[in-house]
Amino acid sequence: MTDVEALEKAAVKEIAAASSSADLREAEIKFLGKNGQFTSLQKQIGSLPAEERKAFGQKVNDAKARIQELLNTRQEALRANEREQQYEVERIDVTLPGPRIRRGNEHVLQQATDKIKSVFTALGFQYMESPDIEEFRYNFEALNYPPNHPSMDDQDTFYITDDLLLRTQGTAIQGRVYEMVQRGEMTLPLRVFTVARCYRNEAVDRTHGHTFHQVDAFMIDEGIGMADLKGTLGLFAHAMFGEEVKVRFRPDFFPFVEPGVDYAISSPKLFGGRWLELGGAGLIHPNILESYNIDSERWTGFAFGLGVERIPMLAYGVDDLRHFLENDLRFLEQFPG
Ligand code: FA5
Repeated sequence: MTDVEALEKAAVKEIAAASSSADLREAEIKFLGKNGQFTSLQKQIGSLPAEERKAFGQKVNDAKARIQELLNTRQEALRANEREQQYEVERIDVTLPGPRIRRGNEHVLQQATDKIKSVFTALGFQYMESPDIEEFRYNFEALNYPPNHPSMDDQDTFYITDDLLLRTQGTAIQGRVYEMVQRGEMTLPLRVFTVARCYRNEAVDRTHGHTFHQVDAFMIDEGIGMADLKGTLGLFAHAMFGEEVKVRFRPDFFPFVEPGVDYAISSPKLFGGRWLELGGAGLIHPNILESYNIDSERWTGFAFGLGVERIPMLAYGVDDLRHFLENDLRFLEQFPG
């Protein structure tokens, strides 16, 4: 018969030697499990004389209880140890610098747009928008274009249907605003500006894109004349390019203004003081005001439209506007804003 003490000793030794909870679990199964050594010891009880059975049973149970106790204590110690090891492995140094977060910045055209918006808002202009896919009548008809004007040609304009096209100029917003005035949704006097994405079916080169942006503004009030236009565009140029900028106006033709001018700036800091054209401007043609029942004897106005790309091109010396839409980070990261 296997001696209870000898078995207990063997169990105690193995439990002490277990170096992980897995080892300990094995020892538990070996000694106390369903087919373990203490269980087989208990099974021998039947072969004992009746008077010894009780004492033997008691002895085995006591030994089992001590083993169980020992297992529990050892288990706790091993777990604590294993937890320590795990903490050690997973330890993080909270004083280490974190991974660098890559910060984006606004696109250089958006930066220009934001600045334009703040300048015109400060001058009392209201920001409005009109659709990129525009009706023929707003883009051309409402703007006093004579029939067969070349810019209405397919070669210059992207048509979607006969009546729908991709807006070629920000000025297309004017007719929509006049209709709002007619409906009583807006009242005269007014000052409106927009920043519009425009599209033209033209040969792309360093200064001409098929897709570009214009800031287009107009103001209607009593007694508005060229001096107001010049003053406003002078202020705009100073705000965008600095105090030393000069502005120049030369006669030009646009169907929706009379007189019409082109608008250029020059600064000793930009391109050696050369004159650089920004856009077109003029006094709103009386035909347009009259066609919306606005009394052109009482109300007059100015309008202008400028290329947004031109502004950062001039300010930063960018020589090709195609860079703006190519989304090359090496280019864009030069303008952190
Ligand atoms: C116009 O579009 C007129 N609507 C401007 C205007 C408004 C005149 C109100 C009078 C009164 P123009 O086609 O010249 O005019 O364009 C104005 C400016 O937009 C140009 O000077 C240029 O800066 C910019 N622009 C025109 N076409 C392109 C293009 N393909 N790519 C980039 N910029 C362009």
